[in-house]
This record gives sequence, C-alpha cells and structure tokens, in this order.
Amino acid sequence: MGDEHGEPVVDLQLDRAHSARIYDYMLGGKTNFLADRTAAGSVLAVFPAALVAARINREFTHRSTRDLARAGLRQFLDIGTGIPTPPNLHEIAQGVAPDARVVYTDNDPIVLAHAAALLRSTPQGRTAYLQADVTDPGAIVTAPQVLATLDLSRPVALSLNALMHFVPDGDRNRAHEVVEELKAALPSGSALAMSHATADFSPEAMARISDIYAAAGTTVTYRTKAEFARFFDGWELWQPGITLPHQWRPDDPGDATHVTDAEAACYAAVARKP
Ligand SMILES: C[S@@+](CC[C@H](N)C(=O)[O-])C[C@H]1O[C@@H](n2cnc3c(N)ncnc32)[C@H](O)[C@@H]1O
Repeated sequence: MGDEHGEPVVDLQLDRAHSARIYDYMLGGKTNFLADRTAAGSVLAVFPAALVAARINREFTHRSTRDLARAGLRQFLDIGTGIPTPPNLHEIAQGVAPDARVVYTDNDPIVLAHAAALLRSTPQGRTAYLQADVTDPGAIVTAPQVLATLDLSRPVALSLNALMHFVPDGDRNRAHEVVEELKAALPSGSALAMSHATADFSPEAMARISDIYAAAGTTVTYRTKAEFARFFDGWELWQPGITLPHQWRPDDPGDATHVTDAEAACYAAVARKP
C-alpha cells in the first residue's frame, strides 16, 4: 500500500496501546497517545516503580554500549530499538568511537516512522535502520541494510534490551532458539548485551501487567534468572555476571542500592563470544 506519492502508508494504530509507546511514556517521551497513556496509567496503578524500571533499563543500555565501545567493539546490531530517546545507542557508541557503525532493527512501523532520528551518524561512522522481526533472525543477518553497514566476519555487539520478553516460548523454546541463531551468525569476539523482565520478585504485580499488555494485543513472557542466564550459554559473562540493570557496573556505587529488586523487575548481563 502506498500514498499518492508511492510512499508506504504506516498505520500507527493510535487507538491501541502499543509497547514501544508505553515505554516511551515511562521514559518521559512525547511519542505516545491516549490509549498508550491509559495503559501506562493502569501499569503504574499496579506497579508504580515501572518509571524506575524503564529508566534503569535505558541506563543499562547506555553503560553497556559505552563499555562495549571502550572494549574495542565498533559494530552494533540493536534489535528492538524502540522509539528514539536521546541519547540513542549510536550517540553513545560514536561518542566513544566516532567510526562505530550501528544497525537499528524493530518490527514496529511506529519506530520506522521515527527512524530518521536514528540515522544521524558521525561522518566517520554509519547508522542504518531495518524493519524486521527478531523471530526471523535469518532475515536480519542477511538483510541488505545489515550487510551494507556491518562486516559480519568481524565482532559485532548485539543488543536485545527489553525485547525478548515480547517473544513467547511457543512449543519449541522459540525465544532461546532465536537468540542462539543470532549468536551463531556472529564471530568470536562478538558480544551480547541483554535485559529482560522477570516476575521473580513481584509475581502478582507482574501478572497484572501482563494482563494489561494482553488486552492491548501484546504477550509478555517473564523469565526466571536461570531462564535468562540460558540466553548466554556458551559465551563468557562479563563482570558482574547476571544482575539487575542498575547493578551492572553503576557509574556511582550508590546507584546500585537506591532501587530494590522488586522495583527493577528485570535482569541484565553482557557476555563475549569466546
Ligand atoms: C520496551 S522497548 C525497548 C527499547 C530499547 N531496546 C530499550 O531497551 O531502551 C521494546 C521494543 O521492542 C520492539 N519489539 C517487540 N517485539 C519485537 C519483535 N518480535 N521483533 C522486533 N522488535 C520487537 C517493540 O516494537 C519496542 O520498540
């Protein structure tokens, strides 16, 4: 489908709450509408710490990206990018290494509609945007946008932040299978940074949140610490291992103690491929 200029028409489905826009609201963004704010309000009524959980998740993205760039990674594949919220991943990576290359991927046309904000690169680096679903990893690692931007024979930092809880297990452990396929496509020295919602600390509130998302058409699958750890199988975890987003290498050690486990409601970790 195209408009009168032949441009694809993006159906923003403003009448339905959407995970990317609910998250944008939690981060204090402006790309959200009444249905999103109503759903966000229902989430906050059962889990007021959702604002904290969103912030510390985003800050984990910032610190892990910065440390990966400092460790020498120059290629970044970010899947489940979300609506742009400065600083975006390329701004962090290119702040450390101006020649860093970044491919953003999301399956949501709403994110595509805002992709222009993701494409501002340093002159030395490059950023690209791909609309694709993480459940089709083969399509991602063979996409022209990826192959024109990243050299997959050299290390890549893959980030799957606050994404895989939107991928159900199905009947064949699909979420873990998908991550294994992505890991297998990357060479030694690559890295995986990931955060993921859990019901380990406040099961009742989390169950009510998954009902709110289900009403908006989105399935949320919480995973335990052991299930989260399994995403990193075969790769070497960076210190401090499997932890909570705010406890992953905090800039100020005090930051790691201001938030309770129940408020964080998420695990986070980074690992390297041997
Ligand atoms: C909570 S946001 C996370 C944004 C960002 N990664 C962060 O942590 O700040 C989740 C994003 O994942 C995207 N998403 C959900 N399911 C997806 C799928 N199957 N494939 C690709 N993206 C997906 C949503 O559209 C949304 O933009």
